[in-house]
Amino acid sequence: MSGTVLVTGGAGYVGSHTAKALAQAGYQPVTVDNLGRGFAHAVRWGPLERGDILDRAFLDAAIRRWQPQAVLHFAAHSYVGESVTAPGLYYRNNVVGSLTLLEAMRDHAIANIVFSSTCATYGLPVRLPLSEDHPQAPINPYGASKLMVERLLADFGAAHGLRSVALRYFNAAGADPDGEIGENHDPETHLIPLAIGAALGTQPKLKIFGTDYATADGTCIRDYIHVTDLAAAHVAALRHLEAGGASVACNLGTGAGLSVRAILTEVERVAGRSVPAEEGPRRAGDPPELVADAARARQLLGWTPQCSDIASVISTAYQWAARQHNRSTP
Ligand code: UFG
Repeated sequence: MSGTVLVTGGAGYVGSHTAKALAQAGYQPVTVDNLGRGFAHAVRWGPLERGDILDRAFLDAAIRRWQPQAVLHFAAHSYVGESVTAPGLYYRNNVVGSLTLLEAMRDHAIANIVFSSTCATYGLPVRLPLSEDHPQAPINPYGASKLMVERLLADFGAAHGLRSVALRYFNAAGADPDGEIGENHDPETHLIPLAIGAALGTQPKLKIFGTDYATADGTCIRDYIHVTDLAAAHVAALRHLEAGGASVACNLGTGAGLSVRAILTEVERVAGRSVPAEEGPRRAGDPPELVADAARARQLLGWTPQCSDIASVISTAYQWAARQHNRSTP
């Protein structure tokens, strides 16, 4: 079954890659985005309804116009550090925005939603790898806001029959292998684009946040998952709901962790030059290691990462960054 799907945040990083995957799977993605942090040029596989999910009248009009059969909900702020200094922004946009969307779905009888959640809902790991039944005790407002939305999904499910898949991403990385879209955050805070930018000379020297962790090389370990694999998981989650599958939360990661130093080594290999870097203190709130147990997504959604080997992650991200750089350089 395919048809029209509302994609909130479809002009953003994961949202735009998923819109492409939806179009390739035969769906019509209709992007809802206020373009506050997304880009109109990333909306290439269907129409754009420019507006805010906090604006109920706007949502009603978009739903009436397009009659979507399901919603994929990406629209959110996603900077951990910013969420600590501006929690109101995060609770309003991420929680109140999601509540407004869910009420609109309820009133327009749209039953199925796939939600962008995060491993930040777990907080500090008490065991690794992290499976979905690990306690959820977020340590920052970003993670807390996403966990609150997971709770909204459950309550709307019980009361109104809403059916949901919450996808808990680990570290989203990489870019579209065709080079059509990629990662553009402003400001950029993520390791891989910053390391590539340092190699290209478009970003300052990379600061390694902490070299005294109890890991093999002293730097933090993360589970990097290619954005194209995340996109495929959303299509699989949508199909799961359309086939009558139960509401569920699934981790999306590879199950393998890589250190900051391992990432820098791979960036240097792909770029063919060194990454100017300096060692610095730990960044507040960084857990030493985050690695997913992604067995549930494999079993329930039939999803396995196809392009999340580190060479594919870094080379697609590098190609995207190099192209952006060449465009902006006369
Ligand atoms: N890092 C550096 N230097 C930098 C940037 C990052 O050493 O300039 C390190 C971080 O300390 C961390 C690793 O690189 O160990 C990855 O950092 P990112 O900022 O790229 O990603 P995070 O793991 O901090 O954040 C990701 C998602 C968040 C999510 C979080 C869950 O981007 O949305 O995982 O912990 F909330």
